[in-house]
Amino acid sequence: MSKKKATIITYGCQMNVNETAKMTRLLEGNGYEMTDDIHDSDAVFLNTCTVRGGAAGRIEGKLGNLKTIKNARKTKMIIGVTGCVAQEEKEHILERAPHVDIVIGNQNIAQLPEIMEKILKGEVVHAVLTDKEDELPPRIDANFGDGISASVAINYGCNNFCTYCIVPYVRGRERSVPMEDIVNDVRKYVKKGYKDILLLGQNVNSYGKDFDNSHEINFAKLLDEICQIEGDYWIRYVSPHPKDLTLDVLEVAAKYPEKIARNMHLPVQSGSTNMLKAMNRKYTKEDYLALVDRIKTALPDISLTTDIIVGFPGETEEDFLDTMDIIKKVKYENSYMFMYSVREGTPAATMEGQISEEVKKSRLQRLMEVQNENAKECSLSYVGKTVKVLVEGPSHRNKEKMTGRISANKVVIFEGDSSLKGTFVDVKIVTAKTWTLYGELA
Ligand code: 5AD
Ligand code: SF4
Repeated sequence: MSKKKATIITYGCQMNVNETAKMTRLLEGNGYEMTDDIHDSDAVFLNTCTVRGGAAGRIEGKLGNLKTIKNARKTKMIIGVTGCVAQEEKEHILERAPHVDIVIGNQNIAQLPEIMEKILKGEVVHAVLTDKEDELPPRIDANFGDGISASVAINYGCNNFCTYCIVPYVRGRERSVPMEDIVNDVRKYVKKGYKDILLLGQNVNSYGKDFDNSHEINFAKLLDEICQIEGDYWIRYVSPHPKDLTLDVLEVAAKYPEKIARNMHLPVQSGSTNMLKAMNRKYTKEDYLALVDRIKTALPDISLTTDIIVGFPGETEEDFLDTMDIIKKVKYENSYMFMYSVREGTPAATMEGQISEEVKKSRLQRLMEVQNENAKECSLSYVGKTVKVLVEGPSHRNKEKMTGRISANKVVIFEGDSSLKGTFVDVKIVTAKTWTLYGELA
């Protein structure tokens, strides 16, 4: 009998990518072979995101599409919804989409094999497992596919309640993973040959604040412990909250220039102090700029990236120009820019001064133009330099060339052999476009 097949479609952030890797491992352990072809799948999971309305809408569409496929299929097809939409909507998903068999929240994915078995045996018709919102999920192994990049969640949940954000409502309160577990996981992945390890948390700087011995353990200490692990790898982390980024983190990063990647994603959200206050971000424009100065002084070779929201309720042209100003001043290598999206149940959803879609679109467009210029300037600054590149494999566009990333997370294309995949090489940058560097092996 041929193996059963399963597909997981992942939406949203790196935490979802991490949870997909765990589900992959669970499904494989239960005899499933993973495929991208939903038509050929005995089980399809949507690992969902609800951070902005657009993401949630795409999932609705996909569920409609899956219904048609399921109805046309001769054999049983399990449809599961996991991730933040599952956590947020719970059994309500079944009201709108009764063809869904399983709704499973972020803390409960370990129960996947057991519940699938019950459904296949007919012992259960629909399963909704979305409790334990505020617990640490059980440690489960993951399969990250490419064997090069792995991620490790260091803390879950968020206590910040930025007024636009749904995350604290769906991912619960902040809770940290014990340091030994994280260090052991990183050691395990390094031993298996992974070269790029991403530490994950909604606010990595909160790491350890919920521990009894929080005066001894914090994010800087964790980074230092991880860097004691021997091997050829680098560590990245997302995301620090600007209000909590402490000097000791910068000191540890300075101490390990080879091990801690030279990229920091530091979400600013807005350049306007008024908007930041309304967003409950707890820093001003000046605080943020002073922090960037401190970072650039401690780590002169750092590349900064950010998240920005345009069109938050009450945002005036003047507020928007403050955001423009900040991206011009900081010169981010990349910015993830979003139009404000109403999330029901958050304070901003009912604030006065909601901005029209038209104004949001035009502000986003204006920001993008400036950001593209910045990105191009950053890219051009690499020309003539030799950089360390982690080789990811043949380029999608041109199989003759190899693609990889530098510590600052920029993509590099160069001529090389596919045997270099998963190794670090030195590449001399010859030319650059806005988002990509081109070079030759040094
Ligand atoms: N509307 C638009 N963008 C949002 N983000 C979070 N919530 C919203 C929202 N309601 C953005 C923030 C955050 C990123 C992950 O998503 O910029 O940093
Ligand atoms: Fe959302 Fe703010 Fe928490 Fe980030 S820090 S997850 S934006 S509430």
